Amino acid sequence: MRLKDMVAVITGGASGMGRSTALLFAREGASVVVGDVDATAGEALVAEAATSNLPIAFQRTDVSVEADMANLIATAERKHGRLDTIFNNAGIEQPVTASDAVSAELFERVIDINLKGTFFGCKHAIPALLRNGGGTIVNNSSVSAFANVGGNLSYAASKGGIMSMTRVIAIEYAARNIRCNAINPGVIDTGMNRRNLDLAVDPDALEEKWRSITPLGRMGTGDEIGEAVLFLASGQSSFITGIGLVIDGGRIAT
Ligand SMILES: NC(=O)c1ccc[n+]([C@@H]2O[C@H](COP(=O)([O-])OP(=O)(O)OC[C@H]3O[C@@H](n4cnc5c(N)ncnc54)[C@H](O)[C@@H]3O)[C@@H](O)[C@H]2O)c1
Repeated sequence: MRLKDMVAVITGGASGMGRSTALLFAREGASVVVGDVDATAGEALVAEAATSNLPIAFQRTDVSVEADMANLIATAERKHGRLDTIFNNAGIEQPVTASDAVSAELFERVIDINLKGTFFGCKHAIPALLRNGGGTIVNNSSVSAFANVGGNLSYAASKGGIMSMTRVIAIEYAARNIRCNAINPGVIDTGMNRRNLDLAVDPDALEEKWRSITPLGRMGTGDEIGEAVLFLASGQSSFITGIGLVIDGGRIAT
C-alpha cells in the first residue's frame, strides 16, 4: 500500500478525477476526507466507499470560502490526528466566451473557485503539514496553463496562476519537508467535459476535435489522473517538487 496510514484531504472529490483519486487513495491505505459543494454526490461516494470498507468521509465545503477550507482541514486533523497530503482539485470550467466578452462576474467566479480556492487549500494545509513534520500538496492545474484553443481566458488564467503558486510554495517550504507539485491534465472524461459536450452546438464535432488534438486519440480517465496524483502525493516522488506533471495523451508535444 502506497499511502499506508496516511491522512488525505481532497477537494472537489465528489465527482470526476477527485472522486477517482479519493477511492484510489483509500484503496492504497489512506484515510480520506473529501470536501465538495455537492453534498448529494459526496454522501453517495461515502456510501459507495463504505460497501468496500474504504475510509472516506465527506464534509460540505465551498473552497472559495476561507472558513470552509480551514474547517475541512481542521476536521481531517481532529478525526485522524494529522494531515499528510492535500489534493486541491475543485474547479469549474468557463463557458466558451470571446475574451472581450468575459464579464467581471464570470472572471471573478472562475478565479474565486479555481485559484483562490487552491490558495486557501494551500494556506490552511501548510500549518497542518508542518505540525506533521512535512507532507505533500498536489494542485490541479491544466494543460490550459501552457496550451490553449481560445475562449477560456479566465480558466487559463486561473490554471496559470496555480502553476506559479505551486512553485512559490515548493521553494518556500522545501527545507521544512513539504513538497508541492501540480498536475496538468489534458482532456479527461469527467463531469466537467460531459457538461461541455451538453453545451456544445455539435457535441460529436467537439469530441472529434478533442480526439484530434490528443495523439493518443481519446480522452483520459479519472483513474489515470488518480495514479499521477498518487505518485506525487506519496514518497515515490520524494525528489520532485515545484513541477507540473502533464497528463495529456501527448497534446502539448504536438
Ligand atoms: N476534465 C478535464 O478535462 C480537466 C482538464 C484539466 C484540468 N481539470 C481540472 O480538474 C479538476 C476536477 O475537475 P473534473 O474534470 O473532475 O470535473 P468534475 O466537474 O467532475 O468535478 C469537479 C468537482 O468540483 C466540485 N466543485 C465545484 N465548485 C466547487 C467549490 N466551490 N467548492 C468545492 N467543490 C467544488 C464539483 O461539485 C465537482 O464535484 C478541476 O480543477 C478542473 O479544472 C479538468
